[in-house]
Amino acid sequence: MMQNSIKYQIKKKLNRLNKQIQLNNNLPLSVIQYDETDIINCLDTLTRGWPTIGKEVQNVEKKIQKLLKTKNAIMLNSGGSANFLIFYLLTSVYAKKNHKLKPGDEVITPAVTWSTTVAPIIQNNLTPVLVDVNLSTYDINIELIEKSITKKTRAIMLVHPLGQVCEMERILNICRKYNLLLIEDNCESIGAKYKNKFSGTFGLFSSISMYQSHHISSVEGGLILTDNNYYADILRSMRANGWLREVTNEKIRKKFISENKNIDQSFMFPYIGFNLKPTDMAAALVLKQIDKLNSFISIRQKAAKNLISGLKKYNKFLILPQNINNIKNSWFTFPITVKPNNKFNKNELVDFLTKKKIANRPIIAGNIAEQPFLKKFKFKNSILKNSKLIMKSGFFIGLHHKLYKKNTNYILSVFNTFFKNKI
Ligand SMILES: Cc1ncc(COP(=O)(O)O)c(C=O)c1O
Repeated sequence: MMQNSIKYQIKKKLNRLNKQIQLNNNLPLSVIQYDETDIINCLDTLTRGWPTIGKEVQNVEKKIQKLLKTKNAIMLNSGGSANFLIFYLLTSVYAKKNHKLKPGDEVITPAVTWSTTVAPIIQNNLTPVLVDVNLSTYDINIELIEKSITKKTRAIMLVHPLGQVCEMERILNICRKYNLLLIEDNCESIGAKYKNKFSGTFGLFSSISMYQSHHISSVEGGLILTDNNYYADILRSMRANGWLREVTNEKIRKKFISENKNIDQSFMFPYIGFNLKPTDMAAALVLKQIDKLNSFISIRQKAAKNLISGLKKYNKFLILPQNINNIKNSWFTFPITVKPNNKFNKNELVDFLTKKKIANRPIIAGNIAEQPFLKKFKFKNSILKNSKLIMKSGFFIGLHHKLYKKNTNYILSVFNTFFKNKI
């Protein structure tokens, strides 16, 4: 009864929040993904006396493994932590000989991406090599990858941008040809597919973000995916202080115990660790959203389709996203780049959208080579012509699972008004 009444109160508040969007005149970048049941499940972990890492985290990991068809999913406190831990592991004493990265090794990554795609490369004493991206799909330019390879190149930190998946066959061929490790930053593209295989399941490791504004959300949260059981066991321990409790491989567990009989098992630390743990609160919040991921993506796909068909008449001025054969885009956002023209610039357009309450942001961090943090560190880059244009003239508007036809119609009407006044 009590729970029902709390649940009712929460539902009422959520309805109020959702109504703001249905009013048609206030379109945020994202909406909350959790419902009243998710919130009750989250709160319930507090009443069970163990809201930190525990059973709910395991449940999320199992569900993700099953959904994305991967052997191991390791939940962490963020996608950025996932990227950091992957590179820490690959440069550590635990890396296998054929995977081990050493200081100064070069890692190829796209120039248009998020800060914590690139920062972990630098933080682990490796050199990022920034490669230009394609317009309209915003994924890394594959010809330029090949041109950027040197004797020092050891890995590709791929990014599947904004729900789009890179052309995996060509990327995998390059990795085989030059013996490069493949890591996928899939923070923005959970649920996307290349030829029916999920993004984030091609490389040795991948990362996923479950941050507030993403497809599914634990407010803050991330995952590492890997089919490599040896590394998965170490990563589970490393995220949690390096303690024995998270070592799931029984043979390895027993070996540590028998070699360290004088140490209490509850506080034994076999690996060097960090505290990057997720909580059961966060896991309980996101658990049931995983079941809804496909339906969330379908609504995003429909919204993107409506926007593309309504905006294509402005092709002379706007670079729009497009559907690519063999790729299922999970539509994180709806990106647009304004073509150089003498009628208007990007700022005029985004100011107009903002005035009409259509939220917008730059395309990820734009050309990351121009971001101040990078200036203090060594990096290399290809010619970044498109990345510069995207930094100057690109923006995205929000896509989410509550963006219905009437909302996309409103967006289109605002664009129509803008263009009527400008051209
Ligand atoms: C491409 C990319 N990588 C990494 C991250 C970091 O994820 P988080 O915010 O969960 O740390 C993001 C965040 O949106 C991202 O877009």
